[in-house]
Amino acid sequence: MSEITIALAKGRLAEESMAILERCGLDCSELRNAGRRLVFYDKKNGFRFLLVKPSDVPTYVYQGVADLGIAGKDTLMEENLPLYEMLDLGLGKCRLCVCGYPNRRDPDAITVANRRVATKYPNITRNFYAARGESVDIIKLNGSVELGPMLGLSDVILDIVESGRTLFENGLDVLEEVCPVSARVVVNRVSLKTKGEGMKRLIERMRKEAEEQP
Ligand code: PRP
Repeated sequence: MSEITIALAKGRLAEESMAILERCGLDCSELRNAGRRLVFYDKKNGFRFLLVKPSDVPTYVYQGVADLGIAGKDTLMEENLPLYEMLDLGLGKCRLCVCGYPNRRDPDAITVANRRVATKYPNITRNFYAARGESVDIIKLNGSVELGPMLGLSDVILDIVESGRTLFENGLDVLEEVCPVSARVVVNRVSLKTKGEGMKRLIERMRKEAEEQP
């Protein structure tokens, strides 16, 4: 049977992704001792793992370098590639929100015409405001987005909120929720045909494991 390549996101989703794969019977011991390596194997069960930047998971799967990937819904929405989304794992739950200073909620304080939004998610931000007929100035940042309103770089941010601690510690608050986020299993369309049997078996095992989570 052909080897199945799985792209996993480094960072906040990595541990939970490995944990569910292990509960499905995969051996992630090489991944758990990653060091600086980027490619790992579970040769006995016929899997190869790639550990990549979260925003690159959709690209690896779309290009067919990986057959299957685990990525946050936020990343999938932002990258917007034609992948099959097979399963909501219910892991890595957080929310995409517009955040800022609560005392600037007054609509007079932020004029719609010139609202500046700092974000790691320019496409989601553009679509979110466009759906409401609002045009905004988007300021793309790659991290520490909360600095935007704090330093006057932007009026608000559009970012993920998990515990809310980063907002709290920087005096910011959620102004509105854009959508909930959780980790999804995505697959390459061609792989689903060529390696369909093995992939469907793994996805069904993951579905059962996800359902058994509290
Ligand atoms: C994310 C996000 C927030 C924070 C939210 O940043 O951009 O800053 O986590 O989590 P919380 O609600 O639990 O505080 P991340 O930790 O990925 O770092 P980054 O700022 O470098 O992107």
